[in-house]
Amino acid sequence: MNYKGNDKIHILEHPLISHKLAILRDENTGTREFRTVVSEISSLITYEATRHMPTREVEVTTPCGVAKCQVLAGKKVAIVPILRAGLGMVDGVLSLLPTAKVGHVGLYRDPETLEPVEYYCKMPADISERDVIILDPMLATGGSATAAIQFMKDYGCRNIAMMNIIAAPEGLDVIARDHPDVEIYVAALDDHLNEHGYIVPGLGDAGDRIFGTK
Ligand code: PRP
Ligand code: URA
Repeated sequence: MNYKGNDKIHILEHPLISHKLAILRDENTGTREFRTVVSEISSLITYEATRHMPTREVEVTTPCGVAKCQVLAGKKVAIVPILRAGLGMVDGVLSLLPTAKVGHVGLYRDPETLEPVEYYCKMPADISERDVIILDPMLATGGSATAAIQFMKDYGCRNIAMMNIIAAPEGLDVIARDHPDVEIYVAALDDHLNEHGYIVPGLGDAGDRIFGTK
């Protein structure tokens, strides 16, 4: 499903994702299960986000003949988790894209202003030649995501996608306005933000739930 007819914003609809999201949202789900399910959903989003990757034809000899096969055309990919919570998605994405390189960008939301604050950044040397997928479970006001996308553009990256588990309409509107070229893959579109900038119904604080810090 698209968001407001925007064909760059993909809201994924799949029974496996819905089922796993119910586990994540449950306030009684513990850290260990939460981490596992974040990783599983990230793999499922990756499946969708890589649907249009280029392939090339090769011939493969089977025990019974020769098959014309399509293999990935060797496009170079980097994934960029937004610290901290984006780290929870890395293993799930790498399970399907094992040769991707990993860059890190550290951002936290100032609790008063909700503005993103950068505290860390480390990218692969050839990042500007790679297709980039930014990872963050939560897209709330969109402040962190729009800043991370701009960092990657400043590094010279041109083909950028974003993967989120839950998005608020407010965040999607910000990315569509600031970065209309970026494809966004989201497992669930929620209702709204509360007065603290948390997604409702959401799942609470993703970083705290992944790392057990609350
Ligand atoms: C969370 C989340 C996003 C950001 C989303 O991180 O992981 O990065 O908030 O909110 P926004 O769309 O309003 O910017 P947080 O700042 O809580 O840091 P953490 O991952 O270290 O917990
Ligand atoms: N960050 C989170 O971890 N959860 C939200 O609901 C919003 C921002």
